[in-house]
Amino acid sequence: MDIKNIAVVGAGNMGHQIALSAALAGFQVKCTDVSPEILAKAEQFADSYLPGRVAKGKLSEEEAKKARANVAFVPTLEEAATDADLVIEAIIEKLDVKRSLFAQFDEMTPPHAILASNSSYIVSSRIADVTKRPDKVCNMHFFNPALVMKLVEVVKGPHVSDETAETAMEVARQMGKTPVLLQKEIYGFLVNRLLQATRKEALKLLDMGVASFEDIDTAVVNGLGYPMGPFQLLDLTGVDLAYHTYIGQYQESGDPADKPSPTVVEKYVKGEWGKKVGKGFYDYEPKE
Ligand code: 3HC
Repeated sequence: MDIKNIAVVGAGNMGHQIALSAALAGFQVKCTDVSPEILAKAEQFADSYLPGRVAKGKLSEEEAKKARANVAFVPTLEEAATDADLVIEAIIEKLDVKRSLFAQFDEMTPPHAILASNSSYIVSSRIADVTKRPDKVCNMHFFNPALVMKLVEVVKGPHVSDETAETAMEVARQMGKTPVLLQKEIYGFLVNRLLQATRKEALKLLDMGVASFEDIDTAVVNGLGYPMGPFQLLDLTGVDLAYHTYIGQYQESGDPADKPSPTVVEKYVKGEWGKKVGKGFYDYEPKE
């Protein structure tokens, strides 16, 4: 299927960068959010990121101009979705909110449109039944920061057609990403399952008082060669996201081992959610 118009719904941590990645690849993108503040912030990011790439010698003036013209930040879902060939949802990890949104996508988009979720954990079979096109509802999971990270996990649930999965893979390739195809649905897909294993152990070591979070990060970066340690990464992706993910995992499995660790609960309750709020495990400059 030929995809030209992409709607990105949710302009937060992930959505604004997914929208820009698509615009840079030449897609016509409309990005929206229920929060006017978040939408304005996403637009400001586009207005500073693209000239920044030009100044860095990574883009020509012409390429930056084209990419900026390819993306519009629009206030309503209807405006974003009405002519979309592909919708990428990147909102909060709450199943009921996603289900109600996908029902709206189904009403608002042309019948051929593919409806994809960027959820980190929620498989599309838990959403697809609210639409009249379950064969066109899949997961397309990007990684943070989405402008930099190459991987996209495309998840082919039992209801997803071959054409939908192949189109999602092809769109990811056209965005300059490296997609992988999951032939089965599984909670957390590939990477978050692997990431959880390291993160869980890191939190356990911290809660046991074996080492400081700084030293655990230093050990992981220098001993395993990861680009950043588990606590730096928690700050980047959001302690709130991790908290909700643990809760979701626990509700799914009923296994107390899946509950958020005491440190995650404490950080969550204190509102120390990471880089986006200026404080997580580390402190950040307000502009970050
Ligand atoms: N947004 C856009 N671009 C960014 C960025 C950001 N937030 N942070 C860094 N960059 C770009 C820089 O502009 C630079 O680009 P250039 O080389 O083309 O000029 C490049 O990334 C490298 O940046 P820096 O030199 O400033 O910093 P680092 O080399 O330390 O890289 C990093 C920063 C890319 C974030 C790197 O530390 C990294 O890869 N970290 C691991 C990230 C990771 O593991 N992500 C997956 C998280 S799990 C997930 O997303 C799952 C989801 O479900 C939650």
